Amino acid sequence: MAFDIDMIKGVYASMGERVEKARELVGKPLTLSEKILYSHLWDGKPEKAFVRGKDYVDFAPDRIACQDATAQMALLQFMQAGKDKVAVPTTVHCDHLIQAKDGAAADLKHANETSKEVFDFLGSVSNKYGIGFWKPGAGIIHQVVLENYAFPGGMMIGTDSHTVNAGGLGMVAIGVGGADAVDVMAGMAWELKFPKLIGVKLTGKLSGWTAPKDVILKVAEILTVKGGTGAIVEYFGPGATSMSCTGKGTICNMGAEIGATTSTFGYDESMERYLRATDREDVADEANKVKEHLTADPEVYANPEQYFDQVIEINLSELKPLLNGPFTPDLATEVGTMTDKATENGWPLAVEWGLIGSCTNSSYEDLSRASSIAQQALDKKLKTKAEFGINPGSEQVRYTTERDGILEIFEKLDAKIFTNACGPCIGQWGRYEDPKNAPKNSIVHSFNRNFAKRADGNPNTHAFVASPEMTAAIAIAGRLDFNPLTDTLINEDGEEVMLDEPTGWELPPKGFEVKENGYEDPLEDGSGVEVKVASDSERLQLLEPFVPIKASDLQGMKLLIKAFGKCTTDHISMAGPWLRFRGHLDNIANNTLIGAVNAFNQKTNFVKNQLTGEYGGVPDTQREYKKKGIMTVVVGDHNYGEGSSREHAAMQPRHLGVAVVIVKSFARIHETNLKKQGMLALTFANEDDYDLIQEDDTFNIVDAAEFAPDKPLTLEVVHADGSKDTIITNHSYNDAQIKWFNEGSALNLIKKQNA
Ligand code: F3S
Repeated sequence: MAFDIDMIKGVYASMGERVEKARELVGKPLTLSEKILYSHLWDGKPEKAFVRGKDYVDFAPDRIACQDATAQMALLQFMQAGKDKVAVPTTVHCDHLIQAKDGAAADLKHANETSKEVFDFLGSVSNKYGIGFWKPGAGIIHQVVLENYAFPGGMMIGTDSHTVNAGGLGMVAIGVGGADAVDVMAGMAWELKFPKLIGVKLTGKLSGWTAPKDVILKVAEILTVKGGTGAIVEYFGPGATSMSCTGKGTICNMGAEIGATTSTFGYDESMERYLRATDREDVADEANKVKEHLTADPEVYANPEQYFDQVIEINLSELKPLLNGPFTPDLATEVGTMTDKATENGWPLAVEWGLIGSCTNSSYEDLSRASSIAQQALDKKLKTKAEFGINPGSEQVRYTTERDGILEIFEKLDAKIFTNACGPCIGQWGRYEDPKNAPKNSIVHSFNRNFAKRADGNPNTHAFVASPEMTAAIAIAGRLDFNPLTDTLINEDGEEVMLDEPTGWELPPKGFEVKENGYEDPLEDGSGVEVKVASDSERLQLLEPFVPIKASDLQGMKLLIKAFGKCTTDHISMAGPWLRFRGHLDNIANNTLIGAVNAFNQKTNFVKNQLTGEYGGVPDTQREYKKKGIMTVVVGDHNYGEGSSREHAAMQPRHLGVAVVIVKSFARIHETNLKKQGMLALTFANEDDYDLIQEDDTFNIVDAAEFAPDKPLTLEVVHADGSKDTIITNHSYNDAQIKWFNEGSALNLIKKQNA
């Protein structure tokens, strides 16, 4: 189930016919994105043209990738599905749970000790169910996927938002929640709203200090962090084909920072070079045979305005290197114009760290170009002002860059070479003992996200995003407003010196090499593998199937919380320190709704227990109701459950005994997640009825036994004084989803069907 050339041949074999049919149905030439989408329909050959931004469509992805933090709950759920093997090639990558502190060897040892049970669990589940397993230290999920699995024209989903990185090799690759991944692992379709399409035409050519990173930093400035929402961004033009494959990966990777569904590029020679360099001659040969389907029809790129919903043009020859930040990746400043801006805004000009790596910028090309700057610091006798940290993207990149003397250059500058893992990119950075009280400072990195506290937990760290080569230059100078194109530095001999433009190799001149890539193939027959989870583990807990909620349970329900205003998946299931419990439903349930604001007192995590009249935390109060066998209702405002697709936000309330969530409107993915977990997700027919809900209310769904598609449900609200209101609630359950409810969850139904 690792790399599968037959699967790729199968995709290509049917692509021509499907693309032709789609072209006929759509009635005009097709973009690359449309070709990939229409050739991955769940039902096979297209039957109708879909409306972009409107129609929900079932797809059949070719691959799934999961990282260690999200894979825990995904695999715990998959184990409930009653399947012997995953239905689609799947890999698990251990990269998020490794802290960067003392350097690769010590940090990896520490992670293997502190997260041993999680890694062992992921390894054994992978072995049992036919999933490829990449051990801690093997690399960062998206770099490993690009090197081993991504292929032009393919469709992939992954339980990580930067799954989109694989667009650099011409895929449509999309980040999803664990519940979606489980559906596909179990052999079901994956649903997505047919995306809108944004075309980005790249003219000119990158040169000098400007890098692929600057392209996406510019796009982020233009579109902002929301501008790509619901859309696929398709890059094309001479500027696109002149860039390396891994450079394209960087651009697609940060598509997540503009909210895009994904980003992609048409198949070209850079992709062919990359495939051949990474030992996939056969994929390149197969891709070459169907080249015309792996890029848009020629008319599209000639007249993009006619085929995309929005078109942006960027001339790479005029693009300037950028520094984006702090605190948001779309706040762009041209290198060389920082002094005034930083001073006005109080951003510290002194830079304390330069970090190079993450899934965004950790390719051989990235490290070689950054090292050409580092080498100049040695040659020109410059003392680096900031500290350097390097995270190679994979063991293959690490091994090859070590062999080629690239890492040694950084080491001579006293750089810390961290594990091939996420590290500081996800806050796994042992920079401070007490980050909350750490001083104000600036850092520069080549990662993708720079929200407050993201890298080191310090709210006063101002993180700026730049290309690896610019990160190296600024770290050497130790100043945010250093412009290597014009500024000089004083060396140890007191001489003024300048840094020359970066140079580097797109691909290693002597080829990639690796001794132990950290991959473990699963057993052909894993039926004998025992998955061990200690009963007293605080990190992992095997799931019990949810018991179906009966019509009688929907009588006499108590109000748990009436949430006021914004209630995102973060308010429902917080991240941060709770990340360590992602594989233990009962423990992570102790954060359920603790971020939601109680509409009756405007406080968080402070609700009335109707049984005692006392106030307490939401999870504790809910557990009291559960003990008494009383189900509860959560009431919410508009767009309830927006944010991430994390299924914990639905599983936790379900686990604790919440039966119904009634809101003015739902974020769609969360609504589906509630349905999948066998709960009732309802909306007020008249949203002003939200105001009728009082703190001591008891609820009866009077027609619960008649739950059917398109039939509203009637909610009787009994107030403390005995008065009643009758509220009509709507729902969007179809027949299949009502079966999920009746069975207790979608997984229970899958299991029953597989029995
Ligand atoms: Fe890891 Fe950061 Fe990428 S957390 S997957 S390196 S975005």
